[in-house]
Amino acid sequence: MAQIVGGICTSHIPAIGNAIARGLEDDPYWRPFFGGYPRAREWLADVKPDVAVMIYNDHGLNFFLDKMPTFAIGAAAEYRNADEGWGLPTVAPFPGDPKLSWHIIESVMADEFDVTTCQEMLVDHAFTVPLQLLWPGRDRRDVRTVPIAVNTIQHPLPSPTRCFKLGHALGRAIESYPENLRVVLIATGGMSHQLDGERAGFINKEFDLHCLEKIVDEPQELASYTIHDLVQLAGTQGVELISWLVMRGALDEPVKKVHSHYHIPVSNTAAGLMVLANAA
Ligand code: DHB
Ligand code: FE
Repeated sequence: MAQIVGGICTSHIPAIGNAIARGLEDDPYWRPFFGGYPRAREWLADVKPDVAVMIYNDHGLNFFLDKMPTFAIGAAAEYRNADEGWGLPTVAPFPGDPKLSWHIIESVMADEFDVTTCQEMLVDHAFTVPLQLLWPGRDRRDVRTVPIAVNTIQHPLPSPTRCFKLGHALGRAIESYPENLRVVLIATGGMSHQLDGERAGFINKEFDLHCLEKIVDEPQELASYTIHDLVQLAGTQGVELISWLVMRGALDEPVKKVHSHYHIPVSNTAAGLMVLANAA
């Protein structure tokens, strides 16, 4: 049977992609950020996943405001990258695993999550930047991928509780897959940031540190916030944190914390990283 080895939550800022493209990992501005990632890579080298289920939000590349699914799952043989407007160099396509995708889709649908199925899906910086951080090398492709896009853009957004419950269904789906696959869940987005409006530049370190603590042992506390609480506490784009709850809902109770890292600011955002290993 497939096994979930654990999960990683990480921020996904376009400027990181540009720093990687320009080889700036050791630059004084960037070193404190990139310094968080070697431990996550070491853990991945230990647990050797075959597949990364990527829980992220699209930023107007594959879906736009005219048609916005709440939850969408990719079921393609590969996922091509394109630039949604930040000027990032395009990277090579990412291999998919259509058989696992369809199993997950069928299982979560049976669990009453009526997802949008995508047999073609373009992926933006929220998908590509975390994969480049975790498996460095522009066109290296060490894992197959299953994209799960969560709407964090066009309100109404799914509630944190709903996202946490999708995680439960996702965990059941993966663990009922008959092949011996090792699966890691990677949630991208957050932490606090607001890119527009009167509070542009808003960062809430206290709340971010609270989230980094609670996501380990008390995720239901985070799931009890409303979307409006999250906008207030983490900023309009800080609501991307709901992807972390999908990931955490799919893991065991309890999980083992392997590593965490926090650094502000990266571009306009507080960058967080958490690596959690499943107990089993
Ligand atoms: C930034 C952060 C994001 O999450 C994003 O999607 C785009 C930009 C930023 O901090 O610049
Ligand atoms: Fe974003």
